[in-house]
Amino acid sequence: LFRPAWAPSNSRFLNPYIVCFITVAVVVILAVIVGLLIHFLAFNQKACFYHSSFQILNVEYNDQLSSPATQECRSLSEKIESMIAKTLRESNLRNQFMRAHVVKLRPNGSGGVIADVVMKFRCTRGNNGGSMKGRVQAILQQMQNNSGNLEINPSTGITSITDHDTENFFTQECGARPDLITLSEERIIGGTLAEEGDWPWQVSLQLNNVHHCGGTLISNTWILSAAHCFRSYSNPQQWTATFGISTTSPILKVRVRTILLHNNYKTATHENDIAAVQLERAITFTRNIHSVCLPEATHNIIPGSTAYVTGWGSITYGGSTVTDLRQGQVTIISSNVCNASTNYNGAVLSGMLCAGIPAGGVDACQGDSGGPLVQEDSRRLWFLVGIVSWGYQCGLPDKPGVYTQVTAYRDWIKEQTGV
Ligand SMILES: *[C@@H]1O[C@H](CO)[C@@H](O)[C@H](O)[C@H]1NC(C)=O
Ligand SMILES: *[C@@H]1O[C@H](CO)[C@@H](O)[C@H](O)[C@H]1NC(C)=O
Ligand SMILES: *[C@@H]1O[C@H](CO)[C@@H](O)[C@H](O)[C@H]1NC(C)=O
Repeated sequence: LFRPAWAPSNSRFLNPYIVCFITVAVVVILAVIVGLLIHFLAFNQKACFYHSSFQILNVEYNDQLSSPATQECRSLSEKIESMIAKTLRESNLRNQFMRAHVVKLRPNGSGGVIADVVMKFRCTRGNNGGSMKGRVQAILQQMQNNSGNLEINPSTGITSITDHDTENFFTQECGARPDLITLSEERIIGGTLAEEGDWPWQVSLQLNNVHHCGGTLISNTWILSAAHCFRSYSNPQQWTATFGISTTSPILKVRVRTILLHNNYKTATHENDIAAVQLERAITFTRNIHSVCLPEATHNIIPGSTAYVTGWGSITYGGSTVTDLRQGQVTIISSNVCNASTNYNGAVLSGMLCAGIPAGGVDACQGDSGGPLVQEDSRRLWFLVGIVSWGYQCGLPDKPGVYTQVTAYRDWIKEQTGV
């Protein structure tokens, strides 16, 4: 006798419809419970921020401490950050504490240094952070035990700051990406499409309102780009700068006032391929629009280290530019390797920097010119190390992108822009 498996059974309890119904009901109920748990455990959490100013009594303030690019600033900031982190990780707030970041070092009238610090905690929604504040304050009072050779004033007051204030603290400082501000600790730079705010210093330089080249915001009025972008179009009135990941619906559009090309830019060899572009007016920094940090001239860029290139350039050689910002992870390649006969055979000159991946495939391409090649430092601040300059086609093996090496032009940038 043939009976299809789905035929109704005589047994009331084995009726497959009822079994099916019960299974579905159980699955639905479980899903709701899991959903609620996830909601309360994860989505009910947010980042809470506190600000405090610590007095460092035994460090003499000097100008080096005013720029996050200097080793002095980096090492003092790291000392303070790790001292705060150690104290909080040894306390009963170890599960809530996420990170401490020195946003500014400034002089204390009588010679010492004041460090403005933003501390990030995980806290639950609905909790206004009031009780947490008291606990943080009490714990930080005991910080002297972890202060090593820093003499710090323990009588610190802390203030709970809003997300908006936090954004202000970070965006006034160069090189901060959103992972410093949001709950997510590690920003995963996956895929190839950027999200709004991921690369807040990226600029589209538009010729008669059409994307032509990339640029990088280094202050509220100055953009760095490549000289070759302006070779045939040096009239600033033809140019505008747009901000935001879309070139067709940007978040901000500003006219260009001045374009300064390097005097010794050489078309044939691509030497000194750098330009400084001044905006017609100063812009206001926001979470999604602010400046990158510039490295010191002495900063060493290590072959093999990771860097990111971003832009609206074409995604195939000879293709057209795209309207949504893309990102690519590349590796710094030593000039010796890049200059070898199998690669660029002597065309890589001083003041140039190569980056790509050995097998090819990820590279800057037409339309990315002038845009940023950036690296993250130990304090998770981002520095401009290269400006997209030239290459043989795009993404070919042994033909990496060649960039203007920003450290080689640090003095030129300072002279032209004051930054
Ligand atoms: C500067 O440091 C001194 C201690 O050397 C301290 O008494 C004073 O309050 C500090 N000033 C400020 C503005 O914090
Ligand atoms: C800090 O050190 C003092 C003296 O050594 C000690 O009495 C105190 O308990 C320590 N505090 C913490 C939090 O370890
Ligand atoms: C690359 O090779 C050329 C020719 O040998 C040389 O002039 C140039 O200085 C080299 N570039 C670097 C960065 O060493």
